[in-house]
Amino acid sequence: MPYEVQGVIAGGKGEAVTVQTVIVPDPGPGEAVVTVQACGVCHTDLHYREGGITDEFPFLLGHEAAGVVEAVGPGVTEVAPGDYVILNWRAVCGTCRACLRGRPWYCFATHNATQKMTLADGTPLAPALGIGAFAEKTLVAAGQCTKVDPDARPAVAGLLGCGVMAGLGAAINTGGVTRGDSVAVIGCGGVGNAAILGSALAGASKIIAVDVDDRKLDWAGGFGATHVINSTTTDPVEAIRALTGGHGADVVIEAVGRPETYKQAFYARDLAGTVVLVGVPTPDMTLELPLLDVFGRGGALKSSWYGDCLPSRDFPMLIDLYLQGRLNLDGFVSETIELHEVEDAFAKMHRGEVLRSVVVL
Ligand SMILES: NC(=O)c1ccc[n+]([C@@H]2O[C@H](COP(=O)([O-])OP(=O)(O)OC[C@H]3O[C@@H](n4cnc5c(N)ncnc54)[C@H](O)[C@@H]3O)[C@@H](O)[C@H]2O)c1
Ligand SMILES: [Zn+2]
Ligand SMILES: [Zn+2]
Repeated sequence: MPYEVQGVIAGGKGEAVTVQTVIVPDPGPGEAVVTVQACGVCHTDLHYREGGITDEFPFLLGHEAAGVVEAVGPGVTEVAPGDYVILNWRAVCGTCRACLRGRPWYCFATHNATQKMTLADGTPLAPALGIGAFAEKTLVAAGQCTKVDPDARPAVAGLLGCGVMAGLGAAINTGGVTRGDSVAVIGCGGVGNAAILGSALAGASKIIAVDVDDRKLDWAGGFGATHVINSTTTDPVEAIRALTGGHGADVVIEAVGRPETYKQAFYARDLAGTVVLVGVPTPDMTLELPLLDVFGRGGALKSSWYGDCLPSRDFPMLIDLYLQGRLNLDGFVSETIELHEVEDAFAKMHRGEVLRSVVVL
């Protein structure tokens, strides 16, 4: 019997989201239905609502979630009903050219459910990042469910499903931050502050936080930033260089997704340093840089999808560190809300009042 649940729908470009009835089919081969317990509000949900990702409205939003497996389809062996899981949006295929070369975090053929969830009138829904977890239940590919220790509360665990993992991984996996590095992070929302936390975990000795909002910079201090710069009053490139002996940082992480902040990241990095772009640009954006500077400054310009994480490797390990008190994931949960408050949460995010609003079901 299909499930009839409530979910948060983005019906059209720029339109306020609404809570509507969603029909979730029984899981087919390779699929699982998950009872969602918590789902964070990520900037990427707002990007979807604004039409910045694709035009495939209506969307079922929400993709930073934890919950319990309700039912699995034929052939599913990796999870079973009752398992406590974090949902991931890159279920690796195991057979594409990246997977076969032993680099599954780059998988080019990640899995999602094949059946569609629909509105009550049968209109098919596009689930955000193949998840759609601002809903009481959702349908995913079984590989999108990663089992973790159930002692971690859902509001915290779910955050590893997107923004916090993206930020931690941008520093640790993509940027390769290690002991003694200097790191600068531009944009200190949920993703940027997670990059700061990840840099601290990896042993960076200097962590410089840049934002346009002093509230975000206060939080950055709590996650391990050693210096903060408000770029509305201070030139961040000059300030980062001044704090690093005139050279720039070893690793600069851009967690805004705009050309002007990318340029700051590019010029705030030391020669042969690494820039990591984890912020997501919109299709209208272009970047112009002197090619000679790209060549002459050397190093690496990388982008980070999902923090180059491998959910099966990284989620359980990070949850264990959290449960041991070694990873401050609680600090990301600014407030817990209900499904009908997601639109308000977008406004709070826009005003910079929260790191993460988390829907708890
Ligand atoms: N690559 C990935 O896998 C991945 C995953 C999740 C989110 N993201 C992206 O990361 C970005 C950040 O997400 P978030 O959830 O942290 O969003 P957020 O809105 O919470 O944070 C953005 C931060 O950037 C700051 N900011 C805005 N303009 C700035 C400027 N000119 N200079 C410095 N700081 C500025 C804001 O004050 C805010 O603190 C978004 O683009 C989001 O889509 C990427
Ligand atoms: Zn693959
Ligand atoms: Zn996200």
